[in-house]
Amino acid sequence: MILKPMMREGIIPLPVAFISTISKDGVRNIAPYACVMPVLRPLDLICIASAFKRDTLVNIRETGQFVINMVGADFSDKVIPTARFSPPEADEFELAKLNEKSSETVRPPGIAGGYAWMECELFKLYEETQYVLVMGRVLRLEVDDAVLNAQGEFDVTKARPLMMAGTRKGMDFCTVAGIDHFEPFSAMFADGRDPLENKYQE
Ligand SMILES: Cc1cc2nc3c(=O)[nH]c(=O)nc-3n(C[C@H](O)[C@H](O)[C@H](O)COP(=O)(O)O)c2cc1C
Repeated sequence: MILKPMMREGIIPLPVAFISTISKDGVRNIAPYACVMPVLRPLDLICIASAFKRDTLVNIRETGQFVINMVGADFSDKVIPTARFSPPEADEFELAKLNEKSSETVRPPGIAGGYAWMECELFKLYEETQYVLVMGRVLRLEVDDAVLNAQGEFDVTKARPLMMAGTRKGMDFCTVAGIDHFEPFSAMFADGRDPLENKYQE
């Protein structure tokens, strides 16, 4: 079957992250974003693609701060309440009945009940006519211990990250499963040594 080129998200399951921001007047905002991408290993940059008509974008421009909240599949019923249009003066924590998790390094609070939180400062905006790429620097990254395995590594079966595949009719929410196949980064290199190994030491 040949798909239209615009159906990229029909074949790439995307994470559904919730971005929390605060307006310059102090109004709390939440929006789901699926176009979220870390920029290379081992950098601390993360990129989100945003349309222009987004309170999230306005708030990031004005305050330079945001939190990327990673959530489990149990948050699927919070997607539409936070994705529907609401005026900039509406508090979307109240609207979606979500509670704050206070942040340490930025003003916008995270969302309680998520499994991980990236507190970010604006690094750079790349503007085109139809979209803006928002590059953030992760200042603080926290993951809930409840989604770690006995070795302290992230366990997708515990976190059940909320994801989506785009169909022609809408959003098919899903999650991921492990396949019991692990390879160290060093396996990619002819000499069996990961040149970035020291970056991952505690
Ligand atoms: C699952 C899902 C993923 C979305 N991903 C994005 C995205 O990556 N970028 C974007 O600009 N809008 C995205 N949207 C649309 C925004 O969430 C939506 O327009 C929202 O109302 C924006 O809220 P705001 O104006 O408070 O920022 C997505 C919507 C849904 C339901």
